[in-house]
Amino acid sequence: MPKVLSINGTLLFPPARKTIVAAAGLIRRGGLVAFPTETVYGLGADATAGRAVARIFEAKGRPPGKPLIVHVADPGQVRQVTASLPGEALELMHRFWPGPLSLVLPRSAELPPEVSAGLSTVAVRMPAHPVALGLIRAAGVPLAAPSANRSGRLSPTEARHVLEELAGRIEAVLDGGPCTVGVESTVLDLSGARPLILRSGAITRTQLEKALGTEIGCAVKGAGGALSVAPGLHCHRSFLRTPLILVTGPRKRRRALLGALTAGYRRRGFRVVVLPAPPGGRLLAGALFASLRRLDRGALDLILAEGFSPRGVGETVLHRLRQAAVRIIKA
Ligand code: TXA
Ligand code: MG
Repeated sequence: MPKVLSINGTLLFPPARKTIVAAAGLIRRGGLVAFPTETVYGLGADATAGRAVARIFEAKGRPPGKPLIVHVADPGQVRQVTASLPGEALELMHRFWPGPLSLVLPRSAELPPEVSAGLSTVAVRMPAHPVALGLIRAAGVPLAAPSANRSGRLSPTEARHVLEELAGRIEAVLDGGPCTVGVESTVLDLSGARPLILRSGAITRTQLEKALGTEIGCAVKGAGGALSVAPGLHCHRSFLRTPLILVTGPRKRRRALLGALTAGYRRRGFRVVVLPAPPGGRLLAGALFASLRRLDRGALDLILAEGFSPRGVGETVLHRLRQAAVRIIKA
């Protein structure tokens, strides 16, 4: 067995065949194990064991009405947790799995109600990460897993982020290094008459529309509109401790305004920093959120985040910044 550290009783497993098997053993005994996925770290429990799933809510301080995503290791496992699979689901699974797309489908009666917080549906996804897939296979059961942060906080993209918030509250963390995508999966509801995006994420609406050849409704609006109808997201609060102001508008004007705001706040004794716009692209979502997390840990009074013209997954990143902002100012 490779060297395993214990932090406040939480084991930190390096990723290896033996540690994955040990982590799967903890899951089978009702334990909680955080694991890497391509999006963010998840906090996993045996999805078929109501008591284990209930512990996730305790460890995170998660509101009881907020359902969890079930993670599977292959598309066949979806039948264990759902009551029916529409053709659209099969099409999207074929096109985007393994990957950052969660599908909301009618749930199987055998699934413990805790998993989907009493709803008649269940969200399922197959993550594109070898450690996640290895863990689910070794456990032999699907894993219910929300993001591995305390409720209301930023989703973790590194094992140490998980330990900062959950050490002593969970059995183990499998360290798979930084997550490559860095932003959560898209949640698409296929249980109604028409497909509906409940949470914007790493797979864009355009990608989904192309795959299905139809228009897809979106319960998530960007600029100042409704947030999301995914349960638990409507009762929004910022995932940051430090207040964040988002500055949008054309590049030149927003840069000028950022400069003026920074100078003004500093003159009034505020400790303020600017979070510059990401250069774009999917791999940078993780870097942006990691900087945000670092800034939030520091002794700052204010974060001034620079807006940007969203392309692809950038739209989701901007949406998350809007959610976190106490104010949005258009230059
Ligand atoms: O990328 C991800 O999705 C990560 C990794 C770990 O897979 N997971 C994640 O889980 O972000 P969590 O619990 O932080 O967010 C799950 C979202 C919530 O907004 C929840 O309301 C929605 O999915 N959701 C889950 N089950 C649902 C259901 N049956 N109906 C509607 N929304 C659901
Ligand atoms: Mg979360």
